Amino acid sequence: MSTARTQVGIIGSGPSGLLLAQLLERAGIDSVVLERRSRDYVLGRVRAGVIEQGAVAILREAGVAERLEREGLKHHGVEIAVGEQRYRIDFAAQAASLTVYGQTELTKDLMDAREASGGLPRFEVEEVVLEDVATARPRLRYRQDGAAHVLDCDFIAGCDGFHGVSRAAIPADVLTTHERVYPFGWLGVLADVPPVSSELIYLSHERGFALCSMRSAARSRCYLQCDLDTEVSAWSDERFWDELEARLPTELAAHLTRGPTLEKSIAPLRSFVAEPLRYGRLFLAGDAAHIVPPTGAKGLNLAVRDVQQLAAAFVTHYREKRDTLLDGYSATALRRIWRAERFSAWLTSVLHRFPGRTSFDRRMQIAELDQLVSSSAARAAFVEAYTGSQA
Ligand code: APR
Ligand code: PHB
Repeated sequence: MSTARTQVGIIGSGPSGLLLAQLLERAGIDSVVLERRSRDYVLGRVRAGVIEQGAVAILREAGVAERLEREGLKHHGVEIAVGEQRYRIDFAAQAASLTVYGQTELTKDLMDAREASGGLPRFEVEEVVLEDVATARPRLRYRQDGAAHVLDCDFIAGCDGFHGVSRAAIPADVLTTHERVYPFGWLGVLADVPPVSSELIYLSHERGFALCSMRSAARSRCYLQCDLDTEVSAWSDERFWDELEARLPTELAAHLTRGPTLEKSIAPLRSFVAEPLRYGRLFLAGDAAHIVPPTGAKGLNLAVRDVQQLAAAFVTHYREKRDTLLDGYSATALRRIWRAERFSAWLTSVLHRFPGRTSFDRRMQIAELDQLVSSSAARAAFVEAYTGSQA
């Protein structure tokens, strides 16, 4: 059995774990990242792709925003369609913008940065176990290539996503979880066809929600609200494009370019928060701590801000020997997280078709969206939340 030591042991090499390792390294703090999957698997996952200005600034500070700022698409507005009606919400009044850049690309940039500094994660580790997290000497045990390893740490960062092991290391009488599971999913496709419009369009339609997003001027990323019991195999490319066309306003449907899909997957929708985010020397960040439904595009942005806050707290601990930021991490992060949960749940509730909804419920959704597009105060509040300019 081999024993090693590090300052911060990080579980998970998604955006949270990779960015935390990167920020810590730039501050001269040593870390080791343990990842259950292979490097190719981590780099192959297709996920969301809308990055707030504030998150871009953090990525810049981490030295990983160069390609994002070169290739990412800057957006200054977003469209909402309700049946045939189209509305545009402009970000200009708030001087806000969003950058559309795939999380897959960001993960690659982070991985390249880790490789350049010799800090690549340890991939394909198994049976990661957290020990003594409530003491000053926490430890990670794991297996790699059949051999047992021990990693002694000052701190452990649980960046292992919703299905990870970290959260379970917080005793049940300490941990509280809050959850809402939605009765539908999103069927997403990626295709090398030009987007129907230059901006994102969120569609509230009688047949169900749809979203037209993009990765570039030549690559579309589109989603359809779908039943939870449907299977990807039931959705031929033709069926997907037919259904999207049926949910688009007629004038936009005329611009829909169909093409073979590069990826097709179904994701369930969930709202989830764990509290507290700290137990002894264990800190949770990203999807290990919280899940938002993708409607508000907040998942990645929350993860980036969690990790920035956590990195700053570790820096204060090591440089200034003060633990005020570590002690305040959970409460401060949770306040920001709950605001994003509120926005994501609200936007999900006004845009989707809920089973069993009445005509009154539908009228309420339409009135809610009408209020959003016709009141300058409501638009300002939306832009603040959607672009993260308040966070
Ligand atoms: N041991 C080691 N690694 C693990 C374990 C484990 N027991 N369990 C999970 N992991 C790894 C996963 O394989 C994954 O690579 O932890 C990583 C978690 O990454 P993500 O799920 O991407 O979570 P996070 O880094 O917090 O990213 C948040 O990604 O899922 C989106 O919506 C989310 O955009 C947000 C962002
Ligand atoms: C995406 O481009 O994948 C995307 C955009 C906006 C969302 C969710 C996903 O709200």
